[in-house]
Amino acid sequence: YEPLRDAAARKGKTFGFAYAPHIAAQDSQYKAIAQREFSMVTAENNMKWDATEPRRGQFTFNGADEIMSFAKANNQKVYGHALVWHSQMPNWAKQITSRDDMRRAMNDHIKAVAGRYKGQIEAWDVVNEAFEWNGTRRQSELQKVMGDYWIEEAFRTARAADPNAKLCYNDYSTDGINAKSDAIYRMVKDFKSRGVPIDCVGFQTHLIVGELPATNKQNLQRFADLGVDVRITELDIRIKLPASQQDLNTQAREYGQVVENCFGISRCTGVTIWGITDKYSWIPQVSPGWNASLPWNENYTTKPALASVAQAMGAK
Ligand code: G3I
Repeated sequence: YEPLRDAAARKGKTFGFAYAPHIAAQDSQYKAIAQREFSMVTAENNMKWDATEPRRGQFTFNGADEIMSFAKANNQKVYGHALVWHSQMPNWAKQITSRDDMRRAMNDHIKAVAGRYKGQIEAWDVVNEAFEWNGTRRQSELQKVMGDYWIEEAFRTARAADPNAKLCYNDYSTDGINAKSDAIYRMVKDFKSRGVPIDCVGFQTHLIVGELPATNKQNLQRFADLGVDVRITELDIRIKLPASQQDLNTQAREYGQVVENCFGISRCTGVTIWGITDKYSWIPQVSPGWNASLPWNENYTTKPALASVAQAMGAK
């Protein structure tokens, strides 16, 4: 096939991946695919709060800078991930107990990171994973100390720090219509009606093979109809090992379906996959016995999923 980024570009979409610079430094096949296939880069870890502000007020941008220069050299856009997230929040921040101090720490962080890359980021995940499956707010330190207000505060601060970046809310298990996506839908609608600056919603789409919700496209469309962009931000589809041929075929169908769903919606900006090869996927660490989740296997031979993505994009 032609590079998939070219196929996506003909449809006005971007094809992205989660990038880990330390892997590119030691694995030339990973690096070659990263450069050839993708038009957008998300930092898998290097732009997170713990990576960029390990001690309060002391910023470390080495990894994040490396990602910016890789993307620039390869003519790729950068999707910023993530300004505020309860996980990979540094311990010093988790320990804050006063509302004003938590607010100051959060805002200072957003200003420093979004400010450093001002004008160079296509979109930021301003807030990541703030809801529970049943639609209530996750009881993170941020939520417990600041109350509901913290999410809109984060978006307002991000807008001031980088007025050109699109500002997104990003979450998982929101791929179909369910209690969690309903709650986020209500939040976006409310933000839009009150002028809280939100431009986009990311759907992580970490799936289990065979479980792509039938309402996936309808769900993306209802958010788009609120006047925000949508994006598939972290796609992977895990299989219980060893993966059978049937599993790989189902996985391929679902990869293709997700791409088709997004590409069929004008406000869907594209699809990002959470890695390149099964070899470095986050999944086996968290779900032992499961993986085979990405379009390239451990040896970089391609799986049916890749052909299916290429076909859904209309690649030549
Ligand atoms: O950097 C340290 C290293 O210094 C240390 O020696 C090593 C020992 O465990 O850990 C390293 O940190 C790891 C980090 O990745 C960087 O490699 C953490 O243990 C590990 O937990 C962390 O995992 C990341 C995870 O987010 C953290 O929650 C995964 O790589 C990353 O793929 C994953 O990505 C998240 C998205 O940001 C948000 N959505 C869900 C997605 C999957 O969990």
